[in-house]
Amino acid sequence: MNMAYTPASQTFIDPALLRRALGAFVTGVTVVTTRGPGGAPVGITVNSFNAVSLDPPLVLWSLSVRAVSFDAFLRSSHFAVNVLCQQQLSVSERFAMSGGDKFNGMNWRPGLADMPLLDGTAASFTCRSVHKYPGGDHLIFVGEVIDFERSTLAPLAYAEGSYAELGKSLRSERYTRIPVV
Ligand SMILES: Cc1cc2nc3c(=O)[nH]c(=O)nc-3n(C[C@H](O)[C@H](O)[C@H](O)COP(=O)(O)O)c2cc1C
Repeated sequence: MNMAYTPASQTFIDPALLRRALGAFVTGVTVVTTRGPGGAPVGITVNSFNAVSLDPPLVLWSLSVRAVSFDAFLRSSHFAVNVLCQQQLSVSERFAMSGGDKFNGMNWRPGLADMPLLDGTAASFTCRSVHKYPGGDHLIFVGEVIDFERSTLAPLAYAEGSYAELGKSLRSERYTRIPVV
């Protein structure tokens, strides 16, 4: 795959400052998994996950071209997105390590298409890998959701380079302030 990319503008953007500014966008934390060529489970901590479309059901995430797991995801027909819950900060740190047997001692099970599903997550989405787009120093994966689960566990949040817990939902408060006319 040709990963070459020529920026449209010559303006210099400092990557470290860009990363800090992007940290203002609050995300969840996921572990995206697949199977390696020999069938071993592979996984990586990812916060670039996002919803794309409901009908058809599509999601996306992006993978660094420097990741040890790059070839495994590139070659695999499927992946699973495991959305971590508030109690799984250590799981995020484990799968953010580069290489090694990250599944050793973890509780997990094979889902559809044999994709590794971690136990105790807030949600999981098993996907067929349908598109791959070059994205600078990342490769963007678009997946069609073929199976999903949602538990009652609260999701782990990530912002400004740190993990966070969701406070009391603002939603109901804000909605009560909308005047009824
Ligand atoms: C909260 C968090 C979010 C991350 N999001 C991504 C991501 O979206 N894409 C990516 O390629 N790496 C991401 N990473 C970094 C990878 O998890 C890390 O580089 C990991 O070591 C890659 O594993 P591998 O080299 O074994 O493939 C993230 C790390 C953390 C802690």
